[in-house]
Amino acid sequence: MMYRLLFDLVLRRMDAEAVHHATIRALRVLSVAPFLRRRLYRALAPGDEALRVRAFGVHFPSPFGLAAGFDKDAGCVEALAAFGFGHVEVGTITAHAQPGNARPRLFRLPADRAIVNRMGFNNAGAARAARRLRRPRSVPVVVGVNIGKTKVIPEELARHDYVTAARLLAPLADYLVVNVSSPNTPGLRDLQAVELLRPLLKDVRRAAGRTPVLVKIAPDLADADVDAVADLAVELGLAGVIATNTTIARAGLADAAAAETGGLSGRPLKARSLEVLRRLRARVGDRLTLVSAGGVEDVDDVWERLLAGATLVQGYTGMIYHGPLWAWRINRDLSRRLRRHGHTTIGEVIGRLDRPAEPAGTAEPAVVAGVRAQEAR
Ligand SMILES: Cc1cc2nc3c(=O)[nH]c(=O)nc-3n(C[C@H](O)[C@H](O)[C@H](O)COP(=O)(O)O)c2cc1C
Repeated sequence: MMYRLLFDLVLRRMDAEAVHHATIRALRVLSVAPFLRRRLYRALAPGDEALRVRAFGVHFPSPFGLAAGFDKDAGCVEALAAFGFGHVEVGTITAHAQPGNARPRLFRLPADRAIVNRMGFNNAGAARAARRLRRPRSVPVVVGVNIGKTKVIPEELARHDYVTAARLLAPLADYLVVNVSSPNTPGLRDLQAVELLRPLLKDVRRAAGRTPVLVKIAPDLADADVDAVADLAVELGLAGVIATNTTIARAGLADAAAAETGGLSGRPLKARSLEVLRRLRARVGDRLTLVSAGGVEDVDDVWERLLAGATLVQGYTGMIYHGPLWAWRINRDLSRRLRRHGHTTIGEVIGRLDRPAEPAGTAEPAVVAGVRAQEAR
């Protein structure tokens, strides 16, 4: 309520990127005040054991985490964990520092509960991020590192560029994400084609050593291409797939800023993101860890993604519209819902909708159908 007022009266009238940088600065102040950070962590970080989930050998205190793009330079992971995120995915980080696209490059679409961005991987480079990630932490944080291609590097050298970033950052990451799905680096999304993606992922995997590697895909892939990337991820023994990044599609949007070039995130992405998740789950079952991102606003969305087979769920745009207590609230509501449905762990919910309720060929008893309908709520 308070945040809503602050947003409507103040924040939405300010330049979106200026607000973002002010927020990062405020969070970094927290990072040099360990006492405050620990207090906050005790109050807001997920503490309910039932929310714990294990994915690709890593223990997460909650399935809900912060998607890439907010903490691009790994400057405030502890503060973000203290605000309740079960993991923080930093980046996208490129091998070399780069300024990103010209401003303005970040646009709010309040009427659509959405954002358009064409940041273009503005970041201080892999070496700087590595220095920050090496610093000791005063609160536990699961950190994913999302890597991408430096803009000036031509496509034929892309593999080398990703490998440079992977070598520097994988040892400092709980998991590594190969981002080939941002619409704001020319040619990047072409790397999703299997014949280019196979050698790239093989090289990054080798460079990453024991760190789990995931690939992040665009919602704009054709369904057959989603299947092809999923098959490739299984073939190469990747840890998982993150679906999805922002979309270049624009349909039925009310806000004038929808005309801006860039990637659209938030509510309008919800349906396609869920569709891609369901498709991936149908294709790979539990052979890959699925991480769902796109249009998550509240506990209903998180629940729906878990039921559809996501082990982890991420959000970004929701925080802009719901404020700093967003993750805490989602964790609180998730705990309550687990108990209401009689579950003791998140693991009992993941992929529940696709588990056969009974042997094939027999009709689903009314009571099971009832449970499944209730689970969907
Ligand atoms: C301002 C902004 C910057 C982003 N930057 C990145 C990025 O650098 N790398 C990346 O993989 N995804 C990036 N994303 C995409 C998000 O990680 C996420 O996949 C997408 O926004 C969908 O989730 P949401 O609807 O909850 O925002 C960015 C999103 C936004 C809004």
